Amino acid sequence: MIQGIKKGAALAINKSAVVNDPSSFEKMSKIGPKVCLTTASEPGFLGFHAFLQTGTHPLAGRYGAAQVVTADSLEAVMESPTNLRLNPLNLWQYTVWEDAESHERMHYEQFDRIFELCAGCLDMVVDGPCEPVYTIVEADMPRLVGLTDVPQVMGAAFAQQKPVPKVRLAMKRLVALGEHHVMEGREQAFLEGTIRTLEMLKESAPGMIGWMILEKQGEAALSTFQLAPPAFWESLQTLGANPPKSRRTNYGEFGKDYTGPPIPIGGPKEYLVHMEWESPDTLTFGLALTGVNPELRKVHDEGVLAHLARLPPYYRVFAPAMEDMVFFH
Ligand SMILES: [Fe+2]
Repeated sequence: MIQGIKKGAALAINKSAVVNDPSSFEKMSKIGPKVCLTTASEPGFLGFHAFLQTGTHPLAGRYGAAQVVTADSLEAVMESPTNLRLNPLNLWQYTVWEDAESHERMHYEQFDRIFELCAGCLDMVVDGPCEPVYTIVEADMPRLVGLTDVPQVMGAAFAQQKPVPKVRLAMKRLVALGEHHVMEGREQAFLEGTIRTLEMLKESAPGMIGWMILEKQGEAALSTFQLAPPAFWESLQTLGANPPKSRRTNYGEFGKDYTGPPIPIGGPKEYLVHMEWESPDTLTFGLALTGVNPELRKVHDEGVLAHLARLPPYYRVFAPAMEDMVFFH
């Protein structure tokens, strides 16, 4: 059994854009826990994070109007996500699984319950959802802790003569998430260059907590109610009490016609570089080191940028809204 953010686990990201309004957050806190309980009843489920976008990295003015935190402060966002000025807001929900099939199976087996719960949220959705599924190809992510756990974690590392881990505080950090599309045949070289870059950042950049590299396998269809007609329309003829009888997608039925994420990736391979940082400032300047630190710039230029099918990478920034990864380590 895989236990943790580790190589080989599958990670689904349910991506939607929702209206930035107090009523959306009321719905999230009312319905979110029920979705979590349903998801957790499926074998192979390992944990989740719900992330809200706070902004994007301006990349030295390439995205000059971007702000890392589009609000008065990160503290204001922690107080209430309605203090974010982005509207709509991207809500990206990670669920982590032993494999991609467990994720597809959960959506098939729990279809009626998830349908009812999701139908209760559709009136806050502006765009999406879609749900790409990734494999964690490499990761260096410390366990999630609260402040009170820090002495115990440090003590345990000393006692076992292991390196002392970075402090990764639950609900109190930022994620920088960059899409990288890689030229065919260059995937291995890209991975090596990216790992080297991330290792250098983790070793030397202040505030860099941890990272993982995700490789897109495909997209789920059933999980976002992309049902074959007429069930597509039937799903819109109810407020949630009458789920469509059919669970067929245009790719057929889970278990008979497919077991992995059925929507193909198409085009160049997509990798998401997920980094966690302790604050808006450390994130902003840390990412900028790939441009202003000569040594890192060379590693990143030759090992990462030179292999991209699309330039430049675009870094969205997120803050956790809910998360549970306590079974991970
Ligand atoms: Fe899902």
